[in-house]
Amino acid sequence: MGVPLRSCNVRKPNETMRLIITTFAGIIFGFFIGVSFPTLSLTKMNLPSSLFPSIDLTYIEDKYSGLSTQALFNALNSLKANKVVSMPSYKNNETKIWIPTNPRGAERLPPGIIASESDFYLRRLWGQPSEDLTVKPKYLVTFTVGYNQKNNIDAAVKKFSENFTIVLFHYDGLTTEWDEFEWSKRAIHVSVRKQTKWWYAKRFLHPDIVAPYDYIFMWDEDLGVEHFDAEEYIKLVRKHGLEISQPGLDPNSGGLTWAMTRKRDNTEVHKDTEERPGWCTDPRLPPCAAFVEIMATVFSRDAWRCVWHMIQNDLVHGWGLDFSLRKCVEPPHEKIGVVDAQWIVHQSIPSLGDQGQAEGGKAPWEVVRERCRKEWTMFQDRMTNAEKAYYEAMGMKPSNLTAH
Ligand SMILES: *[C@@H]1O[C@H](CO)[C@@H](O)[C@H](O)[C@H]1NC(C)=O
Ligand SMILES: *[C@@H]1O[C@H](CO)[C@@H](O)[C@H](O)[C@H]1NC(C)=O
Ligand SMILES: *[C@@H]1O[C@H](CO)[C@@H](O)[C@H](O)[C@H]1NC(C)=O
Repeated sequence: MGVPLRSCNVRKPNETMRLIITTFAGIIFGFFIGVSFPTLSLTKMNLPSSLFPSIDLTYIEDKYSGLSTQALFNALNSLKANKVVSMPSYKNNETKIWIPTNPRGAERLPPGIIASESDFYLRRLWGQPSEDLTVKPKYLVTFTVGYNQKNNIDAAVKKFSENFTIVLFHYDGLTTEWDEFEWSKRAIHVSVRKQTKWWYAKRFLHPDIVAPYDYIFMWDEDLGVEHFDAEEYIKLVRKHGLEISQPGLDPNSGGLTWAMTRKRDNTEVHKDTEERPGWCTDPRLPPCAAFVEIMATVFSRDAWRCVWHMIQNDLVHGWGLDFSLRKCVEPPHEKIGVVDAQWIVHQSIPSLGDQGQAEGGKAPWEVVRERCRKEWTMFQDRMTNAEKAYYEAMGMKPSNLTAH
């Protein structure tokens, strides 16, 4: 509203009133023109500019050429609002706002207008915004997918109720192909070629963007969900206070690496395990406790806010994250665990991991695997150095750090 309204501020009150009235008349007239000739813009119709005193026509054209009735109502409302604030007391100076507690960079805004968080809720182009949503999903599930796995993902998505927002990250560039599934039309599709789950998560799942969701599922595409129900899973996670969790893995799953994530019978959840001798220096530390893997992780809102900050922009495979998740919750051996009563099968289907660039006589999957290992070391080094720097700055000796 910059141009016309700013000029209001320097006029005398009675002039202001006159302008507001003519502006209203102009806008209402414009509205009917817009309604009757949606595709025509006002300037193209060569209307005499005297019909719209003091109003920048290009501005009007911008607003109306798209027949945005929303914009019209916005315009009307801000005119009304402006009538109030532009009245006597502020007419000779601009109101200056500076609120240090506002989000960084937004200090000039009145707090009441600040929308610092967002969501993935789909809205309509018409009607009352307050009536857009029939269901407000409380949970978010994301899959990183290639079209080859469509049947598996279709089966998985059906285990998630309408209380879930569905986000698909496509690493193969195929998106509209998924429209054969009814649910695809209400899903969010993000397509960027050959990127990993953690790359997408860092870019598209900022904690402020996913703020309305109580739980965030970050799942791979090769999980078998026959024995899994998402609503039931969430009940168990709430009941046992798990901030970071995963479903138990069928013992017959391929590539079962850790004892911790193996499904147990006759329990709802478990939070620790016995590993092979010598694998755990401390029964409360990974991989014996405070540990889940990164293939089917579920985060609470608060845990995700922390974990997102720990994800490195360049370490895209996420190796090593599993051993550090515990740094985001307290106490970790109580708030990280595996849900046995809702369990999955890890099918270990070759997918993105096979899409490396063969080089030096090595197969595509080999070069990817090499990078994974390299990233694991790099991540551990960064974490160790960061902690060391912090504790040194706090005047603590490295000997105090062994428990971390
Ligand atoms: C604006 O002007 C009024 C009246 O002169 C004055 O009382 C008020 O402090 C001024 N506000 C600002 C933010 O300068
Ligand atoms: C969705 O959430 C609501 C509120 O928690 C619950 O009553 C409903 O049963 C859930 N829907 C399904 C399909 O579980
Ligand atoms: C670090 O460890 C030493 C020896 O164990 C102890 O005396 C000291 O209080 C510890 N410092 C802190 C800040 O915990």
